[in-house]
Amino acid sequence: MPNALASSPKGTQAPSTLDTLRRYLNVYWLRPENAFWMTLRSETLAQCAMASPSLDICCGDGLFSFLHCGGVLDESFDVFTTVGRLNDVTQAHADMFDVISGAYQPPMITQPGQSIDVGADLKTALLTKARALSFYRKLVQHNANEVLPFGDDTFQSVYCNAAYWIDHIDLFLRELKRITHPHGRIVLQVKLACMQRYTLSTFRDQLGDKFLDIIGRGRLDTWPTLADRAGWEQRFAQAGLCLEDERPFITRTHAQIWDVGLRPIAPMLVKMANGLEPASRLSIKKDWVDLFCELLAPFCDAQLDLFTQSTEPAEIQYMLRPA
Ligand SMILES: C[S@@+](CC[C@H](N)C(=O)[O-])C[C@H]1O[C@@H](n2cnc3c(N)ncnc32)[C@H](O)[C@@H]1O
Repeated sequence: MPNALASSPKGTQAPSTLDTLRRYLNVYWLRPENAFWMTLRSETLAQCAMASPSLDICCGDGLFSFLHCGGVLDESFDVFTTVGRLNDVTQAHADMFDVISGAYQPPMITQPGQSIDVGADLKTALLTKARALSFYRKLVQHNANEVLPFGDDTFQSVYCNAAYWIDHIDLFLRELKRITHPHGRIVLQVKLACMQRYTLSTFRDQLGDKFLDIIGRGRLDTWPTLADRAGWEQRFAQAGLCLEDERPFITRTHAQIWDVGLRPIAPMLVKMANGLEPASRLSIKKDWVDLFCELLAPFCDAQLDLFTQSTEPAEIQYMLRPA
């Protein structure tokens, strides 16, 4: 199974950026700032050929990779249909997606042209959602802060877009090296430390703590191991990983838009949308997706930066191989 994570299998045409944006918006419409970020992630990842056996580590509910590999779901489906703990999101920073109900079954239009061999994540509810996609051959629950439950040299390709969530990052990177075949590749999409600066926190004196707490909703607490480029590269070298390619794909402009986004009102938007009759919900969703496709199209450019001084990228894709 070649190109397990590349979005266009041999003989098929890669989707246009706008198609990709629409696909992610359909699933993440109430958080459009996440949809354009995922579009940029997917477009950058599509430049990597990734062979089987493949591992998607910290795969969550699997939807990012499923859509990336060309899966299509009915437009009535989105991630906000199966959520919980909405009253705990603002104060307690609960993950509204980390719940499952018996009814969870995304309505499939097209199964991706390829599957991923193994998906792994900490959260069992997210893994149950991933299982419903019939996209991963195997799903494994594990804590990436511990030794990984895979043998030496197992994978030809490993993908992770959540390494900066892992506390024991040096162990994690050494483990990635151990489980990757000597001729295999590891693709990490990581946020950089400048994400902490690409926020409104520089205006704390004018805006106040309350404003910044509401906008931030504790997201920096879930990223214990952000680092700058030199820091990430030093970690890779220490773990015995060689850097083959690096591609910045999120600029300060993208990060600052995402910083505000619709995050603070998401729980209310979700409640409102889920209180509608299905036909009204779908009709409003279609108009919403059309509008955000137009609004966000200019931002689906990995190089776009409206800041005049050159700035550090906010997220970067590293391709690594065992030394
Ligand atoms: C931002 S989500 C990304 C999910 C998925 N890759 C995607 O793109 O939608 C981060 C994921 O990392 C997982 N995660 C966080 N800490 C973890 C850990 N210590 N071990 C395994 N998974 C972890 C979370 O459960 C969550 O699914």
